[in-house]
Amino acid sequence: MKVLVTGGLGYIGSHTVVELLEDNYEVVVVDNLSNSSIDVYDKIKTITGKDFVFYEEDVCNEDKLDEIFAKEKVDSVIHFAGYKAVGESCEKPLMYYENNLMSTISLVKCMQRHGVKSIVFSSSATVYGSPEKLPIEEDFPLSTTNPYGTTKLFIEHILTDVCNADNTFSAIMLRYFNPIGAHKSGLIGENPKGIPNNLMPYIVRVADKQLKELSVFGNDYDTHDGTGVRDYIHVVDLAKGHLKAIEKAAKSSGAKFYNLGTGTGYSVLDLVETFKKVNNVDVPYKIVGRRPGDIAACYADPKLALEELGWKAELGIEEMCRDSYNYILKQKEK
Ligand code: NAD
Ligand code: UFG
Repeated sequence: MKVLVTGGLGYIGSHTVVELLEDNYEVVVVDNLSNSSIDVYDKIKTITGKDFVFYEEDVCNEDKLDEIFAKEKVDSVIHFAGYKAVGESCEKPLMYYENNLMSTISLVKCMQRHGVKSIVFSSSATVYGSPEKLPIEEDFPLSTTNPYGTTKLFIEHILTDVCNADNTFSAIMLRYFNPIGAHKSGLIGENPKGIPNNLMPYIVRVADKQLKELSVFGNDYDTHDGTGVRDYIHVVDLAKGHLKAIEKAAKSSGAKFYNLGTGTGYSVLDLVETFKKVNNVDVPYKIVGRRPGDIAACYADPKLALEELGWKAELGIEEMCRDSYNYILKQKEK
């Protein structure tokens, strides 16, 4: 099977391309490198010993994308391409609506024109807004608190409408919880530009002494130690979920939604303490006020993905902490 992967040189996309190649899929990546680097192309080939086709193109460019579909004759699509920073989306909402929605619309138009009937889409647990109870199940009410989240919800609606209009079309929306970790080779991982917004990239830079200390945003939440609780998932487990999803999408039709999480919540301090222990490093921190917009706790009920995709997360919080740090240490060796 030949799979077109948009955003395939990004953090989650690159790990998924590795899993696809190792499972003998043919892969075509379209990425405009707006948040990734061409080095990742070679790193994926080094890890897998396999080649794949790469186009440096914007997925919003429907004419170019159409040429790629005409040439490559892919069987299915995984759509990672998009912007993902919550704070930036509040400052530049139109940039987010334009890139995330237009890339999806041009992609699906090309799929329709070339008879490609299945897509797996990167959605997010952010579509659950502030959940009223936990763990979160897929049929919980949906709402969003920022433009980034709204793009995810809109795209879920768009793909559902496309499925409703064509009963041979299949769209699987994967709602990721909090991906962290890196490939065990240390060759690919997450290395955001500037000061990181997310917890794990921040911890890693404090451990590496690039940043002085972590600010823990609030210790007065209704959680076991007062700090925010999230469902951290190893990016390699997440990547494997996409292979299960494309298999499912290829033999079904309609819109389907799955949580990809472990089902276990860890607090900020749980993650810090595990990171320190596993990597034998110090991570100084101070408690500061809550970050606006944060919720106390968020973790998945992952049973639907197990029942219908045959997928469950295998790697634990120790591996996530170890592999995140290993990636940064390997980056420094360059
Ligand atoms: P990433 O930024 O590392 O990867 C996205 C890739 O898409 C980048 O390589 C970027 O260059 C590319 N891209 C962006 N717009 C493009 C366009 N118009 N045309 C072609 N390429 C384009 O992000 P990621 O963490 O790998 O996330 C992948 C997807 O998963 C995104 O859609 C994101 O919203 C979603 N997601 C991520 C998280 C997370 O915490 N990382 C959580 C939930 C959902
Ligand atoms: N946190 C800190 N200090 C920091 C960064 C984060 O204490 O410097 C805390 C947060 O308050 C939260 C937890 O660490 O309690 C996790 O925060 P992240 O920013 O790593 O992740 P979020 O759960 O806030 O958001 C992430 C993605 C969103 C996505 C959401 C749900 O960034 O894009 O998960 O999938 F929408």
